[in-house]
Amino acid sequence: MAEPNLVKIAYQALQQGKGLVGIAHKEISTKLMELMVPEAIPQTTPVTPNLLFELRNSIKELEEIDWLEAEEGFYPKSLLFEAPWFEWLLKYPLVWLDMPSTWNRRLKRKFQELPLEVNKEKYPEYYLQNFHHQTDGYLSDHSAGLYDIQVEILFNGTADAMRRRVISPLKKQLNSSFPEVKASSLKLIDIATGTGRTLQQIRSAFPKCELTGLDLSASYLKQASKYLNNGENDLVQLIQGNAEKTPLLENSFHALTCVFLFHELPGKARQNVLNECFRLLKPNGILVIADSIQKNDSQNFLQVLDNFDRIFHEPYYKDYIRDDMNSRITNAGFSSIQSNSYFMTKVWSAKKSIS
Ligand SMILES: C[S@@+](CC[C@H](N)C(=O)[O-])C[C@H]1O[C@@H](n2cnc3c(N)ncnc32)[C@H](O)[C@@H]1O
Repeated sequence: MAEPNLVKIAYQALQQGKGLVGIAHKEISTKLMELMVPEAIPQTTPVTPNLLFELRNSIKELEEIDWLEAEEGFYPKSLLFEAPWFEWLLKYPLVWLDMPSTWNRRLKRKFQELPLEVNKEKYPEYYLQNFHHQTDGYLSDHSAGLYDIQVEILFNGTADAMRRRVISPLKKQLNSSFPEVKASSLKLIDIATGTGRTLQQIRSAFPKCELTGLDLSASYLKQASKYLNNGENDLVQLIQGNAEKTPLLENSFHALTCVFLFHELPGKARQNVLNECFRLLKPNGILVIADSIQKNDSQNFLQVLDNFDRIFHEPYYKDYIRDDMNSRITNAGFSSIQSNSYFMTKVWSAKKSIS
């Protein structure tokens, strides 16, 4: 009889635990909202037992791939357990304390409540909003401190497993595009890096690679710096800038990743960012994007996409889930486009081919 794999069992138990915390958190917060501000309850379509079954299966598939790719050596198994657990535990009460202000924003439809000191001229207009009713939008240390925990809860503990789906296409395609380049000479940039969770996953998989992160939010970059530049590894360069038009030189990077940005951009900005990604990559460079699945990816999950749009302030989501991202990626100049979906995330990879 085969020995039980204890590490795999521990990984599955951790994921189940995170899932249960996510579900319990949402159940209790919805009950609280019903009691305190019933008018703020969003009108959503109830999830049927069939859909629930599909969702659970899809999470299992995601976790199986996450485990398999660790076994295959795309990243170390220790990464499956990595998170600033103690810090998250300490900050978790703040998520509850923050909740009434998010209910109020939803109820009063106040989507532009940003800190008064924000210099609005520094940002594109579409950015100056409370995406997912987030207190201060992306523009405060308070928001940056809570973001990772909130995303983990939203996705029932699968956020990092979804982010890690960028790693295997990156590794495979970097190997074939730049077989002669030493790992320590590879340069990778993560666009809209936020608090740097994706870069942390990537660094475990590419410990020698030179990493850069770019984001519009100074507060989110500060948080990323705290996690990434803690003295244990090589410095990650973190740059504040608009992904539509970065201050960086063309042909600078072998690979570029971008996770969970495109659904928060209007169509025009989506195209501008892809054009900029093309400009930043070296010839033969690799683009890997991860974002929400779209309308055509899963008939079964249409209701989940629709509910997401009703629950959260995501002003460009409806447009994004109908957008033809393949055409946009092609229009930016890329070729060899491939895509795959994992639970709620779709991953595209493409190449800046030299003709
Ligand atoms: C949903 S978060 C995703 C963050 C991170 N990639 C992750 O996996 O959690 C979106 C991020 O995009 C950033 N962002 C939005 N528009 C941007 C733009 N035009 N240029 C650069 N960053 C942008 C926000 O500041 C925020 O950190």
